[in-house]
Amino acid sequence: MTRLILGAMVRTVGAYPSGWRYPGAHRDPAGDAAVLRRTAEIAEAARLDYLFFGDWLATGPDLEHRDPYLVARIDPLSAVTYLAGITSRIGLIATANTTYSDPYTLARTTASIDLLSGGRAGLNLVTGTEPRAAANHGADEQAANDARYDRADEFETVLRRLWDSFEDDAIIADAASGAYLDVSKLHATDFHGEHLSVAGPLNVARPVQGHLPLVHAGTSPRSRLLAARSADLALVAVSDIRQASDLREELRALAFESGRDDRTLRVVAPVLPIVGETREHAQRIADELARLVRVAEDFRDGPPAGFPPQRSVAHLATLLGVDLTGYTPDDVVTPGLRAAFTEFGQQLTEIAGERTGRRVGADDPPTLRHLVVTATVQASMIVGTATEIAAEFAAWAEAEAVDGFNVLSATQPAQFEAFALGVVPELQRIGVFPTEYEGTTLRDHLGLERPANVHVRESVAVRVAAPR
Ligand SMILES: Cc1cc2nc3c(=O)[nH]c(=O)nc-3n(C[C@H](O)[C@H](O)[C@H](O)COP(=O)(O)O)c2cc1C
Repeated sequence: MTRLILGAMVRTVGAYPSGWRYPGAHRDPAGDAAVLRRTAEIAEAARLDYLFFGDWLATGPDLEHRDPYLVARIDPLSAVTYLAGITSRIGLIATANTTYSDPYTLARTTASIDLLSGGRAGLNLVTGTEPRAAANHGADEQAANDARYDRADEFETVLRRLWDSFEDDAIIADAASGAYLDVSKLHATDFHGEHLSVAGPLNVARPVQGHLPLVHAGTSPRSRLLAARSADLALVAVSDIRQASDLREELRALAFESGRDDRTLRVVAPVLPIVGETREHAQRIADELARLVRVAEDFRDGPPAGFPPQRSVAHLATLLGVDLTGYTPDDVVTPGLRAAFTEFGQQLTEIAGERTGRRVGADDPPTLRHLVVTATVQASMIVGTATEIAAEFAAWAEAEAVDGFNVLSATQPAQFEAFALGVVPELQRIGVFPTEYEGTTLRDHLGLERPANVHVRESVAVRVAAPR
C-alpha cells in the first residue's frame, strides 16, 4: 500500500484569512516562539515527515486582507534553526527566494542547519512573485519570469557544487600525523554563469544528507521544468484529484525527459482539512470561519487599498450571473435567487453547503458571504471527521494523484492539533502512514537516496574519458 508523505505547512496565525479571529486562536506573532515549539512537539509525536515554512520578502497593509500570516512572521531559516534544537526526528524545510538570496550565504546557512539537525533540513526554492521584494533588495523592479528562472537554474547548480565542496572524508583529523585536511578532497565551486559567479569552496563540511532535499513550489511552465529537473519534492497548487494526477504525470514525464529517474520526484499538494468530532461539528467550524471573513461590502467607506477585489458581493454577482445591487453580504440565498444562478453558481452553492452544512431553503441557509468565501478562499479544503479526512487522503494516494500532502491548519493550535491527534492516527490505522520514524534524516523520511558528490562524479567522468 502507498506510504503518504505528510508535512505541516506552519502558519502560526492560521492558514485561513479569518483563522486568527476564531475563538482561542493564536493571533500575535510576538508569541510565535511558543506556538512553533508546541507545533513541533506535537508534529514529531505524530511522526510527521516535516514542518514546512514558506516565505515572503515584503509586507504591507494589503496582506492583512489577503493572507494575514504574511504580515509579520519569523523568517523561515531562523524558525528551522530554532526548531532543530528542540526536535530530534522531524524534517525541517525552509523556503528561500533565489531571486534575492546570495547562494554562498544560503549554502552556508543550510549546510550548517543540516549538520546541526543531524540531516533533517530541506530547502524550498522559489523565485517569488511579490513586486515589493525588489525594492527591499536593491532592485528597481521584479525581474521577469524567465530571468528569475534562469537565475534559479544557476542557483540550484551552484548550491549543489557548494554543498559538495568537501568530500565526505576530506577532513582526516589525524592527530598522530598532524594531517587535518586531504586537500585533494576539497573542491572549488568555480561557477561562472550569466547571473551568478562563485569561486568557492564553501567553508562548511558536506551536509549530513549530502544535498538537502530540494522542494520547488511554483505555477509557471518554467517552474515545472525546474521542479521536474531538480526538485525532490514538487509542491503543486491543485484543487482536485484529476488535476493533481494530470500534473503529477506531466511533472514525471518532464523529469524523465530531463534524464533523471522520474520515480525520485515526489509530488505533494497543499490541503486544508477542517477536522471535527462529527461532520456537523466540522461544518460548524467551517461556517464560523466563513462568517468571520470580511468582504468588500463590510467596509462602509469602501474596501481599503489592496483589498482582494474578488472578495466582494459585486464580483460574486458576475460569477452567479445575477444582479446583486442592494444586497449585503449577510443576505440569505433564497431558492428564488438560486434558481437564477449560472451552473458555476449552482456548483458554488453546493460546495458551500458541503463545507458549512448550510443548504438553500433549509432552516440555516447560506448567505452571500458563504458564496464569496467559497469562491475565493482555500480551494483545497476538506471538511469532516478524522476518519473521513483520512479516507480522502488515501483516495488521492490510491489514485496516484499525489505522493503526499502539505497540511495547512486554519487555526493554531486547535486545528493543527485536531489533525495531528485525530487524522494522523487514522492514517496510521488504515496503513498509509507509518507509526514510527524509520530513518534519521529527511531524505530517509522521503525515501530518497543520498546523492553522490558532484565533483567526484565529474572527476570520475574525466578519468573514464581520459584514455580515449
Ligand atoms: C503551494 C505553493 C506554495 C508556495 N509558497 C511560496 C512561498 O512561501 N513563498 C514564495 O515566494 N513563493 C511561494 N510559492 C510560489 C509562488 O506562488 C510563485 O508561484 C513563485 O514564487 C513564482 O514562480 P511562478 O511564476 O513560476 O509561479 C508557492 C507556490 C505554491 C504552488
